[in-house]
Amino acid sequence: MIDPFGRSITYLRVSVTDRCDFRCTYCMAEDMAFLPKKDLLSLEELDRLCTVFIDKGVKKLRLTGGEPLVRKNIMYLVRQLSRHLASGALEELTLTTNGSQLAKHAAELADCGVRRINVSVDTLDPAKFRAVTRWGNLDRVLEGIDAAQAAGIHVKLNAVALKDFNDRELPELMRWAHGRGMDLTVIETMPMGEIDADRTDQYLPLSLLRANLEREFTLTDIPFKTGGPARYVQVAETGGKLGFITPMTHNFCESCNRVRITCTGTLYMCLGQEDAADLRAPLRASEGNELLSDAIDEAIGRKPKGHDFVIDRTTRRPAVSRHMSVTGG
Ligand code: GTP
Ligand code: 5AD
Ligand code: SF4
Repeated sequence: MIDPFGRSITYLRVSVTDRCDFRCTYCMAEDMAFLPKKDLLSLEELDRLCTVFIDKGVKKLRLTGGEPLVRKNIMYLVRQLSRHLASGALEELTLTTNGSQLAKHAAELADCGVRRINVSVDTLDPAKFRAVTRWGNLDRVLEGIDAAQAAGIHVKLNAVALKDFNDRELPELMRWAHGRGMDLTVIETMPMGEIDADRTDQYLPLSLLRANLEREFTLTDIPFKTGGPARYVQVAETGGKLGFITPMTHNFCESCNRVRITCTGTLYMCLGQEDAADLRAPLRASEGNELLSDAIDEAIGRKPKGHDFVIDRTTRRPAVSRHMSVTGG
């Protein structure tokens, strides 16, 4: 799959549910209306959809949400998809999770061939963790991380950089992660969906964080790539890697290799645009995959050049009306 800008699409992000057991303040409003369960694609349908994408050249597949591990019977889908690892058609099957349910699934994930996962941890202070997730229990997440590492899964932490919330703590979070053999990626908050907080107040450009870190650490740009949007540095003092995801200050759209599907079968060609294609109708219209394949080709043919995110200080409205949890980032 090649888009109009010559970018090859090899990374599929699959949001298996829009629901989550947390309500991170930068991600969701406290009072969220979730999709009716009857509108969800079944796990068999999601498997079929993913398989068509893999047949069309996807090499890296990430399950997201909401929180992917709250989807009922999700391990069935992971197990089904793992056959594509076994056949060599898929190079990586992975997840982005909040870690709350990880302890009970870690061993089976590893058994299905999941080698690497990303876990969101914005702070190591239990009270602040509860505040940012609105009720999350940090210890449970840390137990999940331990279980994943014990199962041989490589864990990377994700932290959204939030001004006056975790900015001063991020160097410590990095030291902690690197001390436990985990890389860390820091992320600029993106204006997606209405939330209760004001993003103008939360937003921290990562150039500031980097300048701050460079007072204490030696950061060297490295060409390390995971297929995702982060740009990595090696940190001499800790021996670990730190990734910067900077959609706002330094976008990475030129090298975009990904599209995402939602749990209702909608294909979004760009995280930061409203344009989408319905794949549920062609999926359900026939048992063969031709209609589906044509619908995917047509949509890839209109993948936009990039996103239009701005943190708008005058309107204070989100650039994109849907929440990150609809497409899983
Ligand atoms: P790796 O495979 O470890 O590189 O992971 P990843 O960065 O691809 O995935 P993850 O789910 O951990 O996402 C980290 C952050 O990157 C999230 O905030 C995503 O929303 C963001 N992200 C991923 N892809 C895109 C993209 O195409 N555009 C933008 N703006 N953000 C993205
Ligand atoms: N901006 C940036 N990152 C976000 N995430 C959720 N909402 C946002 C947002 N508005 C992060 C989560 C998770 C990843 C999938 O995206 O913390 O690590
Ligand atoms: Fe849930 Fe992730 Fe959104 Fe937090 S960022 S509310 S953990 S989907």
